[in-house]
Amino acid sequence: MKILIQNGYVLDPETKREGVLDVLVEDDKIVKVADKIEDAADRVIDASGCYVMPGFIDLHVHLRDPGLEYKETLETGGKAAARGGVTTVCAMPNTKPVTDNAEMITSIHERAKTECPVNVIQIGAITVGQLGEELADIEGMAKAGCHAISEDGKSVMNASLYRKAMKIAKENNISIFAHCEDITMVEGGVMHADEKAQALGLKGITNAVEDVIVARDILLAKETGVRLHLCHCSTEDSVKLVEAAKKEGLPVTAEVCPHHFVMTTDDITEDDGNFKMNPPLRGKCDVEALKAGLKADIMDVIATDHAPHSAEEKNCSMRRAAFGIVGLETMAALTYTELVEPGILTLMQMAEKTSYNPAKILGLDDKGAIAEGKVADIVVFDPTKEYAIDKNTFLSKGKNTPFHGRKVKGEVAYTLVSGNVVYER
Ligand code: DOR
Ligand code: ZN
Ligand code: ZN
Repeated sequence: MKILIQNGYVLDPETKREGVLDVLVEDDKIVKVADKIEDAADRVIDASGCYVMPGFIDLHVHLRDPGLEYKETLETGGKAAARGGVTTVCAMPNTKPVTDNAEMITSIHERAKTECPVNVIQIGAITVGQLGEELADIEGMAKAGCHAISEDGKSVMNASLYRKAMKIAKENNISIFAHCEDITMVEGGVMHADEKAQALGLKGITNAVEDVIVARDILLAKETGVRLHLCHCSTEDSVKLVEAAKKEGLPVTAEVCPHHFVMTTDDITEDDGNFKMNPPLRGKCDVEALKAGLKADIMDVIATDHAPHSAEEKNCSMRRAAFGIVGLETMAALTYTELVEPGILTLMQMAEKTSYNPAKILGLDDKGAIAEGKVADIVVFDPTKEYAIDKNTFLSKGKNTPFHGRKVKGEVAYTLVSGNVVYER
């Protein structure tokens, strides 16, 4: 099977090559990228006026499968990913039961092959049941192909236990994906601690709740030499700490989620659970620092923390709502509209942070690029389309978003996974 993608503006973050080019896909691989390709093809995709980028690799997704299928499944999460241009998702282990063993990693990978239209990399938990007491079989999960371990949803508060986990991760050549939150400092907070929280009569979560664990985790990575990826950084001081770690040459990378670079607490108009996520929407200084950090390549990755929940769990006061919002179907448009259009990121940086850098962090050398011999995971993105985000169009089971009705520019036109069109608008 041959697919010819014609006339698109191609962005290859590996070689930094960009320009109007044709891309020829044969079976699961990219076989040619050139000015004008005349080869016969089974299918021609006209990408005129569109960007042709390596498929997005989302390091931070909650697929909720197994056990929480009322929120999302491998199938629905996969369809949402495909619609969002995301060709590989890293699935977090806070499933039911917790994904804390090799058998579950293997079983999810096997099921994903038939149930999910995009690639799934299942991340393993750090401790058994994410209870923070006993280390999971990290070596077994690494051998089963988890690529990284994470306690996402919480931090491993016992630094000694965590350090042991880091040493095992390092020995097995996998990364730590760190959720940074000192649970002893949360004190019932449900949103960022500022005047807005006071006005709404809600308890706050201060920046230090995140920052002290970011600092601790960097120091532990320095001591153990493990590759540390900091999830959903939301504060100004997180950016400063990551910058300092990089200056020291430590193997530390960091991600920012679209909601954290698009919204501040000023956007919280009422006590609505759809504005509740962990870490929370922060203040103006934080958002400016995150954007500057992305621009300066201190922050490496844009990931969604796609966290689907049911309407009952979200359409209520922030006091009672679950933490988390969906993100797979809005990531590309929010990134393009809020970062690329205003000139904060170049298109090439968008391709780096949504695909190439995540591929590098996962050690996927055949992904994250548009070049001969690479896997044909490709997104065709139409930057001209203007529309309002409509949660009722989401393919995800989760409709929990604070972006419903927000005007954006840019829409995914086609998504290819291993040379198969898994989504077309
Ligand atoms: O907002 C969040 N939701 N943050 C997390 O860390 C966990 C996630 C979830 O699983 O819903
Ligand atoms: Zn988290
Ligand atoms: Zn998460």
